[in-house]
Amino acid sequence: MPVNNYEKVWHNGKFIPWAEATVHVAAHVISYASCLFEGIRCYETPQGPAIFRLKEHTDRLVNSCKIYRMDLSFTREQLAQAMVELVRVNNVKHCYIRPVVFRGYGEVGVNPLKNPIEIYLLAWEWGKYLGDEALRHGVDVCISSWQRIAPNTLPAMAKAAANYMNAQLIKMEALTNGYVEGISLDSAGHVSEGSGENLFLIRDGKIITPPLSASVLPGITRDSVMTLAQEIGYPVSEQEVSREMLYIADEVFFTGTAAEITPIRSVDRIVVGKGQPGPITRKLQERFLSIVQGQAEDKYGWLTLCSQPVAAGR
Ligand SMILES: Cc1ncc(COP(=O)(O)O)c(C=O)c1O
Repeated sequence: MPVNNYEKVWHNGKFIPWAEATVHVAAHVISYASCLFEGIRCYETPQGPAIFRLKEHTDRLVNSCKIYRMDLSFTREQLAQAMVELVRVNNVKHCYIRPVVFRGYGEVGVNPLKNPIEIYLLAWEWGKYLGDEALRHGVDVCISSWQRIAPNTLPAMAKAAANYMNAQLIKMEALTNGYVEGISLDSAGHVSEGSGENLFLIRDGKIITPPLSASVLPGITRDSVMTLAQEIGYPVSEQEVSREMLYIADEVFFTGTAAEITPIRSVDRIVVGKGQPGPITRKLQERFLSIVQGQAEDKYGWLTLCSQPVAAGR
């Protein structure tokens, strides 16, 4: 098994064994990358497993499908409920949930419209994406020579498999050159995001993140961090970021479902601030983790407890 997976998979409304969640190689998605997906964390909390921002992830999935003209035969509420059931039937304490929607086996040409739409919900165990040390001490990253997808090429607001061919180039180049992660610039040369993370910088007590027009994925952790930053007295400004602003920032960090809040200690081997996680990054990290792990009050209603019925609208 490639991952530490959980046994039951939800497929188009039914639970099937992991080993049966397979696809024919002639499926449209294999040749043409016609797949939209999500990555969602379900945290272990004292009240049982809790899915983080289930509604927002489900909304983003449905929006990604809408952009690619895929009509789903399940409502947002049904999909959200199915994810809660996925956690329950697999009897997990915590997991990573991966919904995938793709064009399946049917016609073999580029035209996707006649192929069936398949929806799968999978779950597996996933620790810290960039490593435990990364969260504590920060990571060394580089600016990629690969540019992020330009507007009018592939829509960055959709979490589409095709976008991750670009992300793979960024990631492989970074790893080959001894970095943990790469940051791409957008087609205008401004900072966009990491291969699988949004990016924030702090300078003179101001928090800045690139706007959605910089071809970034509208990250749900990004949105959560904007809320928490406001709460601790640092409203975030969405503005263009030039590469060199990262070099002279006091603090820089990544956000993402997988990366959570990961400090960045150097960019292109130029040390950021003091070369260790800064005080604002730390504060945001602590606040974020205490909410998602159910240690602090869930004042923004971000957690869906899987041991209780799903509330209407969540
Ligand atoms: C390209 C990209 N940007 C940003 C993010 C962060 O988004 P989120 O916080 O919703 O996981 C991800 C992760 O899904 C990503 O793949």
